[in-house]
Amino acid sequence: MFAKRIERLTSSLVRDILAAASRPGVISFAGGLPAEEALYRPDPAQLQSLQHCWQYGQTEGEPQLREAIAAEARALGIACDASQVLVLSGSQQGIDLVSKLFIEEGTRVLVEAPAYLAAVQSFRLFGADFLPVTVDPVTGPDAQSFKSALDSAQLAYLTPTFQNPSGYCYPAEQREHIAAAVDAAGVPLFEDDPYRELAFDGAAPQPIVGRLKNAPWVYQGSFSKTLAPGLRLGFLVAHPALVPHLTRLKQAADLHSNRLSQHLILQALQNGLHEHVAQILPVYRERRDAMADALTRHLGDLVSWQKPVGGLFFWVRFKQAVDTHALMRRALEAGVAIMPGDAFYTTTPEHSCLRLNFSHSSPAEIEEGMARLASLLR
Ligand SMILES: Cc1ncc(COP(=O)(O)O)c(C=O)c1O
Repeated sequence: MFAKRIERLTSSLVRDILAAASRPGVISFAGGLPAEEALYRPDPAQLQSLQHCWQYGQTEGEPQLREAIAAEARALGIACDASQVLVLSGSQQGIDLVSKLFIEEGTRVLVEAPAYLAAVQSFRLFGADFLPVTVDPVTGPDAQSFKSALDSAQLAYLTPTFQNPSGYCYPAEQREHIAAAVDAAGVPLFEDDPYRELAFDGAAPQPIVGRLKNAPWVYQGSFSKTLAPGLRLGFLVAHPALVPHLTRLKQAADLHSNRLSQHLILQALQNGLHEHVAQILPVYRERRDAMADALTRHLGDLVSWQKPVGGLFFWVRFKQAVDTHALMRRALEAGVAIMPGDAFYTTTPEHSCLRLNFSHSSPAEIEEGMARLASLLR
């Protein structure tokens, strides 16, 4: 009855765990939820000025918002104009559109290992064969492994800035090498960049796509982590040759993104998005430091980890093999939600890992959750 690809549609572990994690009293380190205190809450008076938003709009997005996004992208070193911008219904939609544009059964897709699991889920649905490249939490992807995967890839998907889940941020020099390798191979590069603004110890290097000379590219970002995920808005900027195809795919998917959200975000950009982010960063920094302290005190001898310089996650590697799914179930019984690391791999990983989100819980909850986790492990 169903299309063949439905057999490849695995249930998302994230959604299952998030459902359990939202039970009252559960301390959640599982999802990628921004801090409740950091969510952008527009003044209700602003809604009065949005009376023109109830009619259908343009597939590509509201013209002023596209202009503003293009200006931000140019400031990041991406040569583009507003005609290359597509406003998305969440950057997850960009993953869906890029999957539809490039992937059919057997398309070889280079992915980081570990990689953002909802991207892997979408690529798999469309029939991708994966070419995983290990991302070391300290040194990132090995140049030789990257190059040999690229040699047979038909699409490369990277999250080089505060990667979900590893937190790794590619330094400028590594970005240069990757751009040169992508150009040499002529493989389309899909760069996913939702965490760039959440930089705790200085700005991240400019995106890889701006360093390309000839390879086709799609760059995408999100307003979920800086403003509010409930607005469901992201954007992509693409090589001019790809824009008409992506626009038609978006038209077929949802006609256009929510106009109210687009205008609320435009107002936020005009009022200074960067100032809003500067105000919320201390909340994140405090929580990150609280998790680093709690990890050291409670699990210091059992795990290794890097303190993330941006993004929302700690990537924690056990020194000895641990059944992280059994741990997840027992932790939930103890009122703590965690995310097993193997969910982020397309093949069986070498190490037992966890992804722990630090943004959603208060410092006191982080301490309590880590203490409960430690007592389960000991
Ligand atoms: C790497 C990455 N890409 C895309 C998304 C989707 O974000 P949204 O649809 O909220 O913009 C996420 C969400 O966590 C993510 O981590």
